[in-house]
Amino acid sequence: MSNLAPKRIASLKTIQEFRTYAQELGITLPCSDTMIVGEKSPLLQPVASARINGRIPGNRWAIQPMEGWDGTTEGGITPDVLRRWGRFGESGAKLVWGEAMAICAEGRANPNQLVLRRENLEGLRQLRKVLEESHQRHFRTVDDLVVGFQLTHSGRFSRPVDKTRLQPRIAYRHPILDVKFGVSGDSAILRDEEIPALIHDYVQAAGVAREAGADFIDLKHCHGYLLHEFLSARTRPGPYGGSLCNRTRLLREIVAAIRASGNPIDIAVRLSVFDFVPYRPNPDQAGGKLLAVGQPEPVVWPYPFAFGASQHHEGEIDLTEPNEFLRICHELGIHWINLTAGSPYYNPHIQRPAAYPPSDGYAPPHDPLIDVARQLRVVRKVKAMAPSGMVFVGSAYSYLQEFLPFVAQAAVAEGWTDLVGIGRMALSYPRCIADAVEGRTLESKLICRTLSDCTTAPRKGLPSGCYPLDPYYAAKPEAALLKKLKRDG
Ligand SMILES: Cc1cc2nc3c(=O)[nH]c(=O)nc-3n(C[C@H](O)[C@H](O)[C@H](O)COP(=O)(O)O)c2cc1C
Ligand code: SF4
Repeated sequence: MSNLAPKRIASLKTIQEFRTYAQELGITLPCSDTMIVGEKSPLLQPVASARINGRIPGNRWAIQPMEGWDGTTEGGITPDVLRRWGRFGESGAKLVWGEAMAICAEGRANPNQLVLRRENLEGLRQLRKVLEESHQRHFRTVDDLVVGFQLTHSGRFSRPVDKTRLQPRIAYRHPILDVKFGVSGDSAILRDEEIPALIHDYVQAAGVAREAGADFIDLKHCHGYLLHEFLSARTRPGPYGGSLCNRTRLLREIVAAIRASGNPIDIAVRLSVFDFVPYRPNPDQAGGKLLAVGQPEPVVWPYPFAFGASQHHEGEIDLTEPNEFLRICHELGIHWINLTAGSPYYNPHIQRPAAYPPSDGYAPPHDPLIDVARQLRVVRKVKAMAPSGMVFVGSAYSYLQEFLPFVAQAAVAEGWTDLVGIGRMALSYPRCIADAVEGRTLESKLICRTLSDCTTAPRKGLPSGCYPLDPYYAAKPEAALLKKLKRDG
């Protein structure tokens, strides 16, 4: 792995310079020389066969799930939530993989996360309505627009009442994360006897999602939240820990219970397909104004707590179990898979590569392009091994900035992924890909520079949003407050 000091993407002026730099870093990224504009664009060719709720998404880019920490404290919508969904409608993406919504109040990642409960039904219906209206206005039809809701229990990272206080529910005791996030004692462990109630919450949330107009639900298995943590519960005794069969029992039981309730909604999964050990700022560099460079926490090997990783070597991906997990999904009739990695709480650089780290993070341990390339490479590998009929959405494209559309086009044309998922770039510049495939020059002032304010703001108890580049957020009083909080450290 290269130790070159990261170059700013904006300093790379041509595709050739971008390619040469990727070569210097020792990575391979698909990248087109030019954009194919208009109806022949690979990004405009729908995936041939896979339907969700009877529809095929009309193109090959998706909006990634991105919550805003901006619902009501009852888990209902607000004008900011509606604005975000309206902007996603403007993006032109035909698959909107809607944000994390808690299956119960206790499972919220923050007191302002949306909650899928009956009292919020009318508001949740508005999300689809607003999305469709703006999409119809800009793109003439919504017949090929597909919308999902992501069902979550935040598990170890639950903060349902107080933004500053974790109220964790965990699958197992973790030697590093327990210390890092203050879990003491076994009372936080979700006991086997509590699982039927958890499954019941998933069933009722799936029912609300269907009534609110979601085409599909995602049973979220990523980023260290509860169902993802169960996948690495090798040390948990009993029917939900140990073997992979036991660690996936919860997924099978949730799907069975949703079906037994008579709910036919399509089910998808977002998966952290690999994980690393937690990272921390290098303690030898701490003390200055800048965040120290990240390094892995010292761990005892074998380390059994990372799903999709070797138990013996740091940073080594092992796809044996993820491939088996996807086979299980296929058997359960889950065909749409959104692949991501790691966790924003303990190894953000592998999850959302950024030039500037969030306030509670660490400076990138190497060029973030290496982390982008890793996610793309893994999606390609997993897709090649997956049962036929499965469809993949890839993640972590925003760091590519000016080169995002060129990489997206090549990734789809060369079969690295089925759809390209757009996260942060969709906050700063929702129309980025649409502009590229319609032959417009990208608006450089809107390009996400991975400044991480949308992650830092919630870490400081504020709603998320693109404060640096979106005038709507820049004008809010929270923008000044965020600046101050960042200055004060
Ligand atoms: C503000 C913010 C909120 C996010 N919320 C979610 C979420 O609700 N569910 C989820 O699975 N991922 C969430 N993510 C992760 C993104 O979906 C995406 O994987 C990540 O940002 C990397 O993609 P990108 O490089 O295109 O930004 C969030 C990311 C950001 C920046
Ligand atoms: S705050 Fe804006 S520029 Fe910064 S990472 Fe988020 S979307 Fe990108």
